[in-house]
Amino acid sequence: MIKIRVPGKIHLVGEHSVVYGEPAIIAALDRHVSVEIRTASAIFINGKEFDIDETKRFSQRIEELWQRCMKNCDFSELSSIMKSDNNFIRASAGYMLDSLQPEEGVKIDIKSDIPRGAGMGSSAAISVAIVASFSSLFKNEFNRQKINSAAFELERFLHGTPSGGDNSACCFGGFLWFRKGENSIEMKNLGTKDSGIFDNFIVANTGIPKLSTCELVQNVRRTDPSIRDPVIKDLGKITSLMKEALEEGDSKRIVNLINRTWDNLSKLGLSTPNADSLISKIRKAGGAAKLCGACGGGTLLAYHEDVDMIRKLVNEAGYQPARIKLGVEGVTTETVSP
Ligand code: MEV
Repeated sequence: MIKIRVPGKIHLVGEHSVVYGEPAIIAALDRHVSVEIRTASAIFINGKEFDIDETKRFSQRIEELWQRCMKNCDFSELSSIMKSDNNFIRASAGYMLDSLQPEEGVKIDIKSDIPRGAGMGSSAAISVAIVASFSSLFKNEFNRQKINSAAFELERFLHGTPSGGDNSACCFGGFLWFRKGENSIEMKNLGTKDSGIFDNFIVANTGIPKLSTCELVQNVRRTDPSIRDPVIKDLGKITSLMKEALEEGDSKRIVNLINRTWDNLSKLGLSTPNADSLISKIRKAGGAAKLCGACGGGTLLAYHEDVDMIRKLVNEAGYQPARIKLGVEGVTTETVSP
């Protein structure tokens, strides 16, 4: 039996603009998907049985649907089918069966403490976990580059037109400088000045987003370019400035840049009343906050030099603040005797 563990991710900056070719800084974080996989006579996903050939056919149908959606620039149908978690895992399993052509099925058990659809990379971590587990089991291969490429293909089933940033962060871990179509770069010199800046971040869940990542990305694509394009450009600039601020451990600039990021994302209609109200309290207290990933609800990332004060404020507003460890290790594997 093989065990795979994959971290979630969080965008420090660059969500959405990364889809348009601007850079993003994405950190792997200490919430994980864990998978146990072994060979079996059929496909068992968390105890539910599926026929092997039917699983492959399901995946092929999803691939065809993706092609159609891409052609029509409308991912609504794909998004609604993928709202059930099992459909995504089933399509992903079918994709791996098709590409590896093993003679057996699998029993795969997936556990996750990454909140679903909340901007922390739960689907990217599942994609990476499925690819890593199937290729470890059937090919005895664990190559992060190859895992990442196939995980990107799976991400399309859920996100429509992903940038590839989420799966790269979950696969490689650490802090990534990511630009679509390029190899991601690990940012090794962040926080080396012992600034402790990464201890000043906390997260809080502002509520499950009403729309999926696929729908939110689609809404941004449909936004009037005269509004969208300057926002995307500025978000790109912010990412470059944030790189310097993080390397220098410059708290004041980090606060300004996160707040400028949020002003931009809000212009794209990615805010919620809950998030706005909490973010304005954090700003008044001298801190910074923004939603993460596709936004529209979900995870709020907050930063303040006095992190305990922000934690109290988030608590008083009725949310559960949580510490996070950023820059953790990417996907890992372990073979366990049955
Ligand atoms: C979603 O976690 C991040 C987005 O930028 C989409 C993507 O990069 O594929 C909104």
